[in-house]
Amino acid sequence: MTEMAIQARGLTKRYGSLLAVDHVDLDIPSGSVFGLLGPNGAGKTTIIKLLTGLSDITGGSAEVAGFDVERHPMQVKQRIGWVAAEVILDDDFSAWENLWLQAKFQRLPEWKGRALELLKYFDLVEHKDRKVSGYSTGMRKKLEIALALLHNPSVIFMDEPTIGLDPGTRRMLWELITGVNRSFGVTVLLTSHYIEEADALCDRINIIDHGKFVASGTPNELKSKVKGDLIELETARPVDEAKLRALPGVREVSSQGKGWLLRTDSSEALLPGLLGAVSAEGIRRVSVEKPNLETVFLDLTGHRLDHGANETFDFRKFYSTVRRARQ
Ligand SMILES: Nc1ncnc2c1ncn2[C@@H]1O[C@H](COP(=O)(O)OP(=O)(O)OP(=O)(O)O)[C@@H](O)[C@H]1O
Ligand SMILES: [Mg+2]
Repeated sequence: MTEMAIQARGLTKRYGSLLAVDHVDLDIPSGSVFGLLGPNGAGKTTIIKLLTGLSDITGGSAEVAGFDVERHPMQVKQRIGWVAAEVILDDDFSAWENLWLQAKFQRLPEWKGRALELLKYFDLVEHKDRKVSGYSTGMRKKLEIALALLHNPSVIFMDEPTIGLDPGTRRMLWELITGVNRSFGVTVLLTSHYIEEADALCDRINIIDHGKFVASGTPNELKSKVKGDLIELETARPVDEAKLRALPGVREVSSQGKGWLLRTDSSEALLPGLLGAVSAEGIRRVSVEKPNLETVFLDLTGHRLDHGANETFDFRKFYSTVRRARQ
């Protein structure tokens, strides 16, 4: 039987009348990279808080690294690490001093050997005595992960690890996460808004919306749930819905904003006929979406995953910049 790093049954968190996490079950095998994918306010961070003992459980139960989160919180804390989206490094300290501080926080008597091993792994040895304020974003991320790994945890939690990062640094971090998972054998639970990220990194994904899991599986299993392509169509003048429905190959038609959303088994086969049929109405925009985790989410919930993601992005970036400026 596969050993589970994280298990939850009926895990629930209520804030007043809001069910932020609504009876969720988790079975996360040891050594895997597991993703919670969902829009703003879905309950991702709350699940991490429940599993790490930062927030009290309203109902249900959870075991992390073999210990019950409520009954043995200290044993759990000793075996887990956390990489937060927010800045956690002390800019006035060097990498080595940040590691020393982390060792103090965690009361680790023997930490220097491990710290050096991690600095070597992350290519930071020659920078270890430089103030972190002079580090690039990529170096900061490496150090943050090194801090999370210092006490040799078996599970690490990463809450939106790449939010606010430029695409290049984001990809570097993807490689780091995969590398850390393989090299240190740690189980990774990460949350994300980004479909490509979950797709690239995770062995399995649970899609979460309004506190509930709406789907789970490997990225490929999830994508295979979506049947066919989506075509979005916008025209200058109104198109008759019946005309769209009558086109061969159209499986579904629904209105979307100012235009239409068509579902078809093959966009390649449908497009020539569709363009001919609506040319008199003046085509403004046509876009084709092949099955991906975004269309899985749209299928399951009726709304898009990335809705509002940009607002969060800007807010958090602003917040972390302010925190840094204050130091
Ligand atoms: N301390 C709190 N008190 C009251 N409500 C809360 C608290 N923390 C979270 N919530 C609410 O619980 C819900 C889930 O929030 P959570 O932060 O877990 O979402 P999330 O999926 O992490 O979202 P995001 O992608 O924006 O980080 C939201 O509606 C949020 O407003
Ligand atoms: Mg969150």
